[in-house]
Amino acid sequence: MPHINASKPILITGCSSGIGLCTALGLKQRGYRVFATARKSEDVEKLSNQGLESFQLDLTDSNSINIAVDAVLYETQGELFSLFNNGAYGQPGAVEDLSRDVLREQFETNLFGTHELTNRVIPVMRNQGYGRIIQNSSILGLVALPYRGAYNASKFAMEGLTDTLRLELNNSGVYVSLIEPGPIESQFRANAFAMFKQNIDREHSAHRDYYAGVEKRLSKKGHAQPFTLPPEAVLKKVIHALESPRPKTRYYVTTPTYIASVLRRSLPTSLLDKILLKASAAENK
Ligand SMILES: NC(=O)c1ccc[n+]([C@@H]2O[C@H](COP(=O)([O-])OP(=O)(O)OC[C@H]3O[C@@H](n4cnc5c(N)ncnc54)[C@H](OP(=O)(O)O)[C@@H]3O)[C@@H](O)[C@H]2O)c1
Repeated sequence: MPHINASKPILITGCSSGIGLCTALGLKQRGYRVFATARKSEDVEKLSNQGLESFQLDLTDSNSINIAVDAVLYETQGELFSLFNNGAYGQPGAVEDLSRDVLREQFETNLFGTHELTNRVIPVMRNQGYGRIIQNSSILGLVALPYRGAYNASKFAMEGLTDTLRLELNNSGVYVSLIEPGPIESQFRANAFAMFKQNIDREHSAHRDYYAGVEKRLSKKGHAQPFTLPPEAVLKKVIHALESPRPKTRYYVTTPTYIASVLRRSLPTSLLDKILLKASAAENK
């Protein structure tokens, strides 16, 4: 594919590890002007040491979002070609074990912060008459799995908000794409395990017997799930969403996502539930 938009500025969230880091480095190598943000200052320093322009951006903090956007727009004289909303975490735990605060925190990062950031850049893109907003959703924005309720809800909400936004930006020159990765190598599982230990009261849960399996899965090193792909598989789709004259509305990544997207449209819910319960039992045994 030709590098039609190389050297254009792109802002990425959550670049300390995994997909964000891989995408930041890959796009820089391709010639983009990458603003790789991270929420911790030590990660901002690491990113700068890797030759990336980097700013602190914590999605739970409006002030941090505003300062980062102002800094990026100052550097680019007000231009922003693309925003890759990537930063997020998974809060594991059964729905009945999620307190209101824990569920809210999941939404503060995965949805509300992302939404606030997006709303900061939309006027810039509207004025330019062009722009690409890319949302890193998930296979778990398409189908649900047990013990992933908070994350499922945040990604389902992202899907709904994004579908609406795409309709509202019709003919504005601003394209909105969703990426739907299945299992990808990153720090995601390790970070989710930390949130599980921090926020879920295992001992007093009706699900405590199942949680042993959940903990085993979350603490596994390497590939915990079959069909896991490296983050470069997401980078490839991001490049298409940036450079195609007609970016897709949804990009599926990994075999499980392709399967899930077909099953959710073709099966009755009761049958889909049976398949999802089997898949969950297999991964948490
Ligand atoms: N890995 C998978 O299997 C998979 C599958 C489907 C979708 N995804 C999606 O892919 C995206 C990237 O995840 P990943 O797999 O690369 O996992 P990761 O290695 O854990 O990276 C997640 C990134 O999000 C950042 N983040 C967390 N809370 C944040 C906050 N409040 N403000 C700003 N950044 C924050 C993390 O920063 P810290 O290092 O500071 O925590 C980290 O940089 C996420 O949207 C995730 O939902 C991943």
